Amino acid sequence: MIHTEVVLCLNLFIVFLHVVAPFSNNVQQWPVPYRRYDHRPTADSYCEALYPFCPTGDQDGRIPHMRDTDVISVYRLQTPVWEFKYGDLLGKFHIMHDAIGFSSLETGVNKKNTMEWYELFQLGNCTFPHLRPEVYAPFWCNQGAACFFEGIDDLHWSQNGTLEKIGEITGSQFNGMAQWVQDDNETGIYYETWTVRSDPSPNATVWFESYDCSQFIHRTYRKLTELGAKLSSRSQTNYTRIYLYSGEPTYLGNDSAIFGQPALKNLAMDIRNFYHTFRPHQSFLDFAISLLEAYKKVVLDKSFYLYYNFEYWHLPMKTPYVQITYEEVPLPFAV
Ligand SMILES: *[C@@H]1O[C@H](CO)[C@@H](O)[C@H](O)[C@H]1NC(C)=O
Ligand SMILES: *[C@@H]1O[C@H](CO)[C@@H](O)[C@H](O)[C@H]1NC(C)=O
Ligand SMILES: *[C@@H]1O[C@H](CO)[C@@H](O)[C@H](O)[C@H]1NC(C)=O
Ligand SMILES: *[C@@H]1O[C@H](CO)[C@@H](O)[C@H](O)[C@H]1NC(C)=O
Ligand SMILES: *[C@@H]1O[C@H](CO)[C@@H](O)[C@H](O)[C@H]1NC(C)=O
Ligand SMILES: *[C@@H]1O[C@H](CO)[C@@H](O)[C@H](O)[C@H]1NC(C)=O
Repeated sequence: MIHTEVVLCLNLFIVFLHVVAPFSNNVQQWPVPYRRYDHRPTADSYCEALYPFCPTGDQDGRIPHMRDTDVISVYRLQTPVWEFKYGDLLGKFHIMHDAIGFSSLETGVNKKNTMEWYELFQLGNCTFPHLRPEVYAPFWCNQGAACFFEGIDDLHWSQNGTLEKIGEITGSQFNGMAQWVQDDNETGIYYETWTVRSDPSPNATVWFESYDCSQFIHRTYRKLTELGAKLSSRSQTNYTRIYLYSGEPTYLGNDSAIFGQPALKNLAMDIRNFYHTFRPHQSFLDFAISLLEAYKKVVLDKSFYLYYNFEYWHLPMKTPYVQITYEEVPLPFAV
């Protein structure tokens, strides 16, 4: 009974937003642009990394300067996620992690580097928030960042994944990219697991784009191409995507708008209840269980609360609800 009232109230609220919102602001742009910030804040001390972020990278995220005339090989790196813990099990589901490798000719064959972008507090923490008794709004440890470090673990990437040279760039192109990485890292601060679209067809409307390790790789390839690099691969370049399928999303508001107003108590409780289904996430196994529970929940209720740009959206879910794909994203062409 109470549940019905909450749902009814929520539906009225959503109808209200549908009727009023189109008149009160400009036409909604899809996909919703990922918000950039002017600097990266330090993560809240509540968020504790189980594995330290970027342990062998430079403390200040510095990327070595290359001589302009240097020749640098670019490598495409891909391997199953958390392979060290679950073998290639996740590779079979094609949940892959991507990175880019560099080796410089002038500074010698031993001078290799790896660059990747990933979660500060692991995937589970970027996908589901913590419900803390003392904090009303769900609490997110969802930062993601770039890590640049010396060396390429050749065996790790090549044995169960991919290590392929896809091009050569000059030192000055590398330096241009390095500057862009610093800026991208400072302004794009949070990880987004989900891509949300209207249906699985190629014509589907994309409501939200993910912002994850593979998106960083695509941005970097585009930047390198823009700087004049020519990249090519002998094999298909496939990447993991985690999709949600929904009708047109409805904007709900940020933490203070929803959790700071008694008038929206029902919505606030509904969001808390939604995320209550998902356990604190210590391991990938927990994450997988949460994903299954999310699936059950969204299929039954056809409802999902997405957190994007630190704001909540309501997704009216539709079949096939959730999907993990491993699909081709070709390397960008030089123009
Ligand atoms: C997720 O965040 C919680 C809260 O800070 C933390 O205790 C936990 O270690 C994090 N999980 C991982 C895998 O880093
Ligand atoms: C990106 O930001 C993180 C978090 O502040 C930092 O640890 C890392 O060194 C930075 N990476 C680069 C390449 O600037
Ligand atoms: C590749 O996968 C096999 C089987 O899961 C594992 O035993 C091996 O250690 C992996 N190799 C590397 C370099 O991670
Ligand atoms: C995609 O759109 C085109 C033109 O609008 C249409 O002809 C085609 O049938 C659509 N394809 C699918 C799979 O919906
Ligand atoms: C939250 O949204 C309100 C408007 O709904 C806005 O005035 C406020 O600045 C936002 N707060 C943050 C932290 O972005
Ligand atoms: C790679 O993606 C293409 C097209 O998206 C797909 O047809 C192919 O099966 C994928 N390859 C693998 C190994 O999944």
